[in-house]
Amino acid sequence: MHTISRTSIRRKLPSFWLALCGLLAGCDGPQSALQPAGEEADRIASLFWWMLGAGTVVWLVMIALAAHSVRSSAEGPAIRRTRILIIGGGTIVPTIVLTVLLLYSLPMLSDLLARPPEGSLQINVRGKMWWWRVTYLDGPEGDRIELANEIRLPVGEPVEFILSSDDVIHAFWIPSLGGKMDMFPGRTTRLTLHPTKTGVFRGACAEYCGASHALMNFDVIVMERDRFSEWLDSQRKQASPPESQQAVRGKRLFLQSGCHACHAVRGLAEHSSVAADLTHVGSRHTIGAGILKNDTAHFAHWISDVDDIKPNVRMPHFRMLPDNDIAAIAKFLEELQ
Ligand code: CUA
Repeated sequence: MHTISRTSIRRKLPSFWLALCGLLAGCDGPQSALQPAGEEADRIASLFWWMLGAGTVVWLVMIALAAHSVRSSAEGPAIRRTRILIIGGGTIVPTIVLTVLLLYSLPMLSDLLARPPEGSLQINVRGKMWWWRVTYLDGPEGDRIELANEIRLPVGEPVEFILSSDDVIHAFWIPSLGGKMDMFPGRTTRLTLHPTKTGVFRGACAEYCGASHALMNFDVIVMERDRFSEWLDSQRKQASPPESQQAVRGKRLFLQSGCHACHAVRGLAEHSSVAADLTHVGSRHTIGAGILKNDTAHFAHWISDVDDIKPNVRMPHFRMLPDNDIAAIAKFLEELQ
């Protein structure tokens, strides 16, 4: 019979701890449901820990019953031991544990789906292949602030997301702030979140939606109320004309190359709503739906190699343009603060 010696266990321990550290490292960071920064995420994380605890109880009881039935082999008929194991471990313990969990989680479901108070901040998010159109429904009728792949929120206030899709089913998920919600074409779903900590978090699409599903992320920046209001005012403004010579040339090339046929730059290029609004694109944390750093080098890389960066993307590449033209367009975009 094969036995595991103490030396071999000791030899395997370092790799065990390394694997455990690797697993635990995955629980950290801006996209972790186990590091909640919002009321809803907090409740979901506590449900997770309760379920983990309950699962551990079921497992320990099963192990104890199995050990008991093996050890007491000489004491009673096999049928009795089997009954203890199957009825006790397989029916009674799971029924008790699952009933407790059900009673604990049912009220949570209605709380998580509740609408926020009248007058709360509302943000429209439309899923696209493969990016996010974000519209703040703010102020008087017609006052809409549009951006892409970035959401900023005031800390300590409820926000209602109104979610839909233009093409296939996507799912909106900010693990640090709350649960996920599907986005359907032709139907609207709603999700309320209450961020409780400031910081930069990461959102993702949680429903497989095609070749670039994993390249469809967004940044969520939770700020103090006054900084948020300042930011919202800056987003409401039209784009400022480019200042540097290179950016002035970039703006001309942007129009000549037909970029404005899909992208709107409010105040500088006629309004189109096919692709992402670029009015203040230079002020965003990332570009390409959370996949590239926001600087001129990455703008240039995106314009020339977009199809390599994001497979099956709808935007055509512009690598036929000379490098200095692409650099000028990139400079123009970077100056759109
Ligand atoms: Cu959108 Cu997956």
